[in-house]
Amino acid sequence: MTSSTIGIIGSGGLGSNVARVLAQKGVSATIANSRGPASLASFIEEVGPSIKAGTVAEAARADIVLVAVRWESLSKLLGGMPAWNGRIVIDGTNPVEFLDPNVPKDPTNPLAEWGIKAIDLGGKHSSAVFREMVPGARVVKALNHLDVNVLPQTVASGGQRVQFFSGDDVEAKAEVRKLLEAAGYFAVDLGMLDAGGPLAQLPFGPLAAINFIKI
Ligand SMILES: NC(=O)c1ccc[n+]([C@@H]2O[C@H](COP(=O)([O-])OP(=O)(O)OC[C@H]3O[C@@H](n4cnc5c(N)ncnc54)[C@H](OP(=O)(O)O)[C@@H]3O)[C@@H](O)[C@H]2O)c1
Repeated sequence: MTSSTIGIIGSGGLGSNVARVLAQKGVSATIANSRGPASLASFIEEVGPSIKAGTVAEAARADIVLVAVRWESLSKLLGGMPAWNGRIVIDGTNPVEFLDPNVPKDPTNPLAEWGIKAIDLGGKHSSAVFREMVPGARVVKALNHLDVNVLPQTVASGGQRVQFFSGDDVEAKAEVRKLLEAAGYFAVDLGMLDAGGPLAQLPFGPLAAINFIKI
């Protein structure tokens, strides 16, 4: 069990399901969104007392902060953060744009059927771009590579669900491993951010969106 405090910024598909899985194991966390803590009242009632609703500033003060917002929201959110001072930031994002379902599908977009489009990062992988947005933080890429609907089922097909993670700081990765294991996952270190990030990055990373189970 980790003794670090946990903040989750974003309470949509990713943030809410990570909070659910932590709640199942009694791990405490503070979750925030753009609309404020009151908007999370029914969610908190659902998941129980280990998860607290907070402001973005409160969630951002934690020892480990999961960023669970859409790529397009990152610069506004991360532009207004307090100094990271070596705290751990988990990059749960992927460089995709969510498409308006009412707009006709672009036949040249290979991801149109999933309702998303890849964002052009000029050849960089997304965690390299993310890392520049959180100066002074120790970035670990994790929790980004699976469909969020499977996250609460940490045990499946007789084994533990695999969660990949990567990062440049050994101690930060050890903390994130503890958190993933406390949540019930089988955590697999893919190495440095420049190696593991592209491997598990959606949309085109070779390990992304594949459900590995450790038997
Ligand atoms: N969906 C998936 O299957 C999946 C899987 C893996 C990774 N991801 C990645 O996870 C990230 C989030 O995806 P999602 O599906 O969870 O998106 P989502 O359902 O649209 O949720 C986004 C959340 O971000 C919050 N937010 C946006 N701007 C904010 C700000 N300035 N301050 C605080 N909160 C802010 C929103 O707040 P409000 O609720 O107040 O609007 C919302 O709770 C994306 O980068 C995505 O690529 C998604």
